[in-house]
Amino acid sequence: MLNFKEIIAEKIADVTKINEDEIKSYIEIPKDSKNGDYAFPCFRLAKELKKAPPIIANEIKEKLDEMLSENQDEKIEKIEIAGGYLNFFINKNILVSEVLKEISSNEEYGKSELGKGKNIIVEYSAPNIAKPFHIGHLRTTLIGNALYRIYKYLGYNTTGINHLGDYGTQFGKMIEAYKMWGNEYNLKEDPINKMMDMYVRINNLCKEDENVLARCRENFRLLEAKDQYCVDLWNEFKDLSMVEFNKIYDLLDVKFDSYNGESFYADKIDEVIEKLEEQGKLIESEGAKIVDLEYAGINTPCIVQKSNGSSIYATRDLAAIMYRAKTYDFDKCLYVVAYEQNLYFKQIFEVAKFLVDEKYAKGLEHVSYGMVNLPTGKMSTRLGNVVKIEDLLNGTIEKAEEIISEKNPDLDNKEEVAKKVGIGAIVFNTLSTTTIKDQIFDWNTALNFQGETGPYIQYTYVRTKSVLEKVDNIIPNIDTIKIENLKDEYSLNLIKLIHTFQDILVQVTEKNEPSILSRYLIDLSKAFSSFYNENKIIIEDKEVQDARVYLTYATGKVLKIGANLLGIKMPDKM
Ligand code: ARG
Repeated sequence: MLNFKEIIAEKIADVTKINEDEIKSYIEIPKDSKNGDYAFPCFRLAKELKKAPPIIANEIKEKLDEMLSENQDEKIEKIEIAGGYLNFFINKNILVSEVLKEISSNEEYGKSELGKGKNIIVEYSAPNIAKPFHIGHLRTTLIGNALYRIYKYLGYNTTGINHLGDYGTQFGKMIEAYKMWGNEYNLKEDPINKMMDMYVRINNLCKEDENVLARCRENFRLLEAKDQYCVDLWNEFKDLSMVEFNKIYDLLDVKFDSYNGESFYADKIDEVIEKLEEQGKLIESEGAKIVDLEYAGINTPCIVQKSNGSSIYATRDLAAIMYRAKTYDFDKCLYVVAYEQNLYFKQIFEVAKFLVDEKYAKGLEHVSYGMVNLPTGKMSTRLGNVVKIEDLLNGTIEKAEEIISEKNPDLDNKEEVAKKVGIGAIVFNTLSTTTIKDQIFDWNTALNFQGETGPYIQYTYVRTKSVLEKVDNIIPNIDTIKIENLKDEYSLNLIKLIHTFQDILVQVTEKNEPSILSRYLIDLSKAFSSFYNENKIIIEDKEVQDARVYLTYATGKVLKIGANLLGIKMPDKM
């Protein structure tokens, strides 16, 4: 399909001799179509070209007008100057026919081979064994899942990794707790909370009694030495936790290609130490081994080995980077992890420069996300107001069912629809805020059918479905659609949005920001509502009806693909 943004960028690049990708990144879509379909802010080039924006605008316009008339190129109808902006008006006949052609010939609209030959790792979720899966983990799970799906759709060879927190000294404590009080707890029922109780209890005891702490450390040493009793217990903790985590992943329909967590790297850390040692990067500090990072402007050194010789979180991450470089030959390795670990990732990415080729070190990227708060305030384990995520998901599904039963009492398979709507509400709510920003999760807002929510998008999709039902789901033949019938403001608005879908997906991957797609789906839903309210679809005039039915079908298709990429399922009725 013709990509008008690209065409415009190419032409501007041609006359200014500035890199096409740079130009493309500046092109905007004006809010008001009076200002054209695309706009180029010339002030962006003022510095580079050493000229005032209006002068740049004039020069570019002159050259482009000449070029267009010489080549008899009709794709761009006209170019106007407004302030320092160049406004481009594209040929609507070409636009409409291109979009319709592409929609009709392509079941997977927007899919691309753009990423062919590139390997992307998306690391997400990564909850900790024997601890609760908290609302922060929900956020990384959903952001990562969306990125994973979108990279794949754009043709990247994508690997999703769940870097489970399944190792570390805390397991020495858990083993000690089990030895002391194992018979008091039936771990099979409500395993995570029980394990959490044990963990809190042993931690308190460790603070009071040095001897207990020493025994915990010894347990971890034994675990590292593969002592059978410790390994078996640790495996049991892990299995019990995974059963709980999998309930959440099943509800969300989230999958991973690999569950290689921290423990997987336990026997791969020597290589890290050796390599750093060889290069003289390791410094002894109070018995521990650290890498000083002052030279890179990072004031906190990175500890890679504790004084008792144990590995730590960072060591295992460093081993993982080496392993992933070897195993996946990645172009990008994304870590979807909360912003509390910003400094940490700066540190390990810096150390990684000593461990892997530059190509890999450059591909490491922390996709940092903000806190999730409930309306009552910060979520904290200490305050005891942690919501069990499974309860949150099921609770939302229940609420969705109440709303649906009220609005549409006769609906078939209400349960299934409620599941899609409830989960959709949570997924959308989570992905609608810019990743780095903090957000609030509130049931009432998330489930509002009228607001900018998941259910609103689903509801819009359901409306497209019910329009199609009125024509017995017979989609008009594309060759019979007359373009003139789709040139009113509302139809054009929809078509323009549909045209930009792939570009939106590309933007998501450029910024690792799924909220760009969430925003787009809201815009598309709103544009459909206006189209639907302003244009009667089922009418006498068969020719106009066919065109509008077709556009309705196209909108539904894009809404569904887009929502699926975010991890939201569409009901046919609700
Ligand atoms: N398990 C950690 C946590 O819950 C997150 C792991 C992030 N990934 C990593 N490679 N360090 O906080």
